[in-house]
Amino acid sequence: MPGIPDEVIEEIRSRSNIADVIGGFVQLRKAGNNAFKGLCPFHQEKTPSFFVDGARQSYHCFGCGKGGDVFRFFMDKDNLTFVDAVKMLANRAGVVIPENVSGDPAKSRKKADERERVYQIHAELASLFQKILRDNPQGPVARYLKGRGLPPEIIEKFKIGAAPAGWTTGVDYLRGLGFRDDEMVTAGVALRGQRDASRIFDLFHDRLAFTIENEIARPVGFSARSLEAKPADGRKYVNSPETPIFKKSRLLYALSQARQSIGKMNMAILCEGQMDAIAFHRAGFSCAVAPLGSAFTPEQAQILKRYTNHIILAFDADQAGQKAFLHAAEILLPLSMELKVMRIPGGKDPDELYQNGGAEAVASAVKSSRSWLEILVDVLKSRYDFTTPVGRGEAAGVVAGYLEKVPDQVELEVYVADSAKLLQVSESAIYSKLSARHAQNRRREEFRNPAPKPETAPARRRYNAAMLTLLEVAISSAAAARKIAELLPGDELPDNDPVAEAINFAIGAALNGEEDGGIARIRELLIENPVPEISRILVEHTVYQNAVKAAQDAVNDYRRTRREEKRKDLTAKLAVTRDPAEVTALLQEIQNLSRRSL
Ligand code: UTP
Ligand code: MN
Repeated sequence: MPGIPDEVIEEIRSRSNIADVIGGFVQLRKAGNNAFKGLCPFHQEKTPSFFVDGARQSYHCFGCGKGGDVFRFFMDKDNLTFVDAVKMLANRAGVVIPENVSGDPAKSRKKADERERVYQIHAELASLFQKILRDNPQGPVARYLKGRGLPPEIIEKFKIGAAPAGWTTGVDYLRGLGFRDDEMVTAGVALRGQRDASRIFDLFHDRLAFTIENEIARPVGFSARSLEAKPADGRKYVNSPETPIFKKSRLLYALSQARQSIGKMNMAILCEGQMDAIAFHRAGFSCAVAPLGSAFTPEQAQILKRYTNHIILAFDADQAGQKAFLHAAEILLPLSMELKVMRIPGGKDPDELYQNGGAEAVASAVKSSRSWLEILVDVLKSRYDFTTPVGRGEAAGVVAGYLEKVPDQVELEVYVADSAKLLQVSESAIYSKLSARHAQNRRREEFRNPAPKPETAPARRRYNAAMLTLLEVAISSAAAARKIAELLPGDELPDNDPVAEAINFAIGAALNGEEDGGIARIRELLIENPVPEISRILVEHTVYQNAVKAAQDAVNDYRRTRREEKRKDLTAKLAVTRDPAEVTALLQEIQNLSRRSL
């Protein structure tokens, strides 16, 4: 696409879950696993024939035939060009489109070409590694794979290969195809010599090479396993470094092979490494993926959420696995994703389980997965003394720490009921732990960002009243919010003020073309930091006859009260200062205020 790099477009796509996005405009009801239906926004109809497919990330109307991906939806709905649809969604998803993209097309074209070369280097090297493995059926990598029981079709499917024993085989091969040394270094497949930086060497050498693909099955990196149990250089795995196309926090091993199944099975299995992911696929669970040798990230969770809300964790039961579980819960709960944990009998890893017990053993382990809450309580039982009131109280406090991350009220109520049973305490005990935590968080937040001390109580109240009216108007209609945005620059609103923040959300939503006035996000804000005045405004949802006039009035009123407050502040300072220069300055400022009020 002219201008915006594919990588950025894919990033925007991956952060724009189609069901969430379209759900903002069309009332969608569930119609199967990760599928939804509603009344078509493109033609008049009384019975829904408009379908959104979460797994394919596409929509289709069986009535009028319109359909496509999330970008196409806005092109159809708002008559946007593709680029404008991308920009609109970028804004919504919080993705920044690099400057030079719109500024200097020639430069960005060059960048895109460079990135394309990096992709090509990986495609070529992956084929080379695969070919070397095929051509050497008696070689060390082939023998190792045979020893671990990997059949040819799996080796093919996962593009597994052999990194050659020489130090420049890969580099020489790529040179032969016309790639430059600096391109190979940028691509992260070659290293410069330590003594002679003009010479380059293969990074992956004499190892089993797992090809890492991106979501659309293009090779973007490698993870190369040593064939020895105790490698001489101490490195069991050599992994690709971060490159323009390899961002390990945003990639999942086996996703390209798993994405269809994740949608169909409506679950994803998250395991520790390549070998375990492959074992699951062999056992019929082709919904398995793995992070790339580092902790599970929020970006990876967002990617999975586009396909399913159900995650099964298949990590080791050891100390590290326990930590990984708590970490995953912290990431998944705020996204309203369900987390289950699979226990592997005998403390083995999934690969061993499959080797010893076959597909059946894997299936029964998957089936016996338990909810994160049960696992959490188990973990806590080993850390707190449940026979004492204090121990159970402390454990309940920890559980509340996880529950407070759950944004959905219904989900929360279910979890509270479950926690109460598991901890053998009442539900209201859990709720009181939750509200104690809310209060604590609020105090901690205020400590970090102290609210400006009001000069006098009445002034503070009037000031707030004007801001509250502003919020009332801002959420009343998109037209009103846009008018406010036009009249009132963002820096005229105070920082660290929940009302101001809510106003900004309402304006942001209107500018983004969202129709709910940012109310959903304001609600989120209120969960963390309840402000009764704001809640009341959301509930009342006042409608104004003349939105533009209401906006003008509210902005004027806000400015006047703010000036009054400022004037009071300055006058108070004037009363106590003895410094003649300061007196002059203060008088000048007060005069300026009056002049602006004319
Ligand atoms: P494991 O040590 O379990 O790998 O690490 P494995 O290949 O399954 O080991 P064996 O064959 O059973 O002994 C799990 C994952 O952690 C990453 C890799 O992605 C691996 O698949 N890892 C591990 C690294 O990135 N670097 C390392 O040094 C070790
Ligand atoms: Mn293993």
